[in-house]
Amino acid sequence: MTETSVRGNGTTVYDERGYAVASVAEAKRIAGEYLCDLDLGFAYGFGLPEVDDRYHIWRVPVISGESAVGEIAIDGRTSLVQESRSTEPEMLRSRHLSDAGKPMSTKNSGSGVIVRSELRNTVLRGDSESTLAELPAGSVDLVFTSPPYFNARPDYSEYAEYEDYLAKMGRVIGQCSRLLADGRFFVINISPVLLRRASRSQASRRIAVPFDLHSVIVKQGFDFIDDIIWEKPEGAGWATGRGRRFAADRNPLQYKAVPVTEYVLVYRKHTDRLIDWNIRKHHDQDAVARSKVSDDYEKTNIWRISPSSTKDHPAVFPVELAERVVQYYSFSGDVVLDPFAGIGTVAKACIDNDRRFVMAEVSDEYIGTMKRNLAKWGGSGDVHCINTDPINDGALF
Ligand SMILES: C[S@@+](CC[C@H](N)C(=O)[O-])C[C@H]1O[C@@H](n2cnc3c(N)ncnc32)[C@H](O)[C@@H]1O
Repeated sequence: MTETSVRGNGTTVYDERGYAVASVAEAKRIAGEYLCDLDLGFAYGFGLPEVDDRYHIWRVPVISGESAVGEIAIDGRTSLVQESRSTEPEMLRSRHLSDAGKPMSTKNSGSGVIVRSELRNTVLRGDSESTLAELPAGSVDLVFTSPPYFNARPDYSEYAEYEDYLAKMGRVIGQCSRLLADGRFFVINISPVLLRRASRSQASRRIAVPFDLHSVIVKQGFDFIDDIIWEKPEGAGWATGRGRRFAADRNPLQYKAVPVTEYVLVYRKHTDRLIDWNIRKHHDQDAVARSKVSDDYEKTNIWRISPSSTKDHPAVFPVELAERVVQYYSFSGDVVLDPFAGIGTVAKACIDNDRRFVMAEVSDEYIGTMKRNLAKWGGSGDVHCINTDPINDGALF
């Protein structure tokens, strides 16, 4: 819990719990006094304190330079520092000393200020491995995508070997890493794929793509944050054919679970900075205030959303999924990139949520549909079209 949630009657959840420490500012003050008593105060700042509900303690991150070097735990009820749960003073001192003189980690961070990206709404036609290379480093605030499936549907994805597929994904994800601003998020919707058997005497093969892609993503400079399960309503997985044999015969060993989930894996571009830094140093604090997520947000890592389908593309994700990711991982006015944009579902979420979009797609057909969609969704004005004709709203209908 990070916020002092004010109730209708003006009290906070901390008041209701009888906490002596009832605000972030109070927690920082106590931590500051504690460090001063240890002769450590002059060298440190604090990140955003959070309450750990299990122990009723405030955890106050201790920052030296731009790095987190430990935390101070404060008993919420007594306001005393719990030394056994806090980072040892000697550890704080030695981490502070080793951090001093370290270079800042990114271009954007040199001044400690985050600069607004110059990118405007863009449609990029071509292989994103090469088209993304043309965009400036650090110019994107969020990546959300669902990559082509490894040979799942020959009509839009063909790779000779699985390793070729992973290597290609690694190169595109490497571009995403270069483009993302320091500490911002890379979110990918992915699921295992079923390779159908070639003949009745062969078994089908299921490939655990998310688990293999995980290490590819981490190698490109990302830290793992969350594994969100996108759960579809019962019945959604029947079309895959998986589980039908068992349903008929009920032989043990033949059991196969009908898949009704996909992953939404969340990563953050590696940085020593806390997320709090991205919020505090954002170039537009009004946008930060406007972007607060509404009360009905999804609290757990299971997101129940119906799948989408359209005759225009065999593998779209629902706009509701894109909306959640855009709302939870970016601010109003931010730039959101989809390197495998299909017919532009992420752009729809951006238009509806006041974000800028960069949509990269290799297929001429899907680029055409995306441009028609953008006109329909009211997002075609002033779109920068690269390797493709400008959107001409009048000619589209
Ligand atoms: C799973 S689909 C994405 C669909 C999208 N989320 C939507 O809702 O419209 C993956 C897309 O990646 C595109 N694609 C595959 N390889 C690509 C590449 N190298 N560069 C750009 N796009 C690519 C495919 O044409 C396909 O449209």
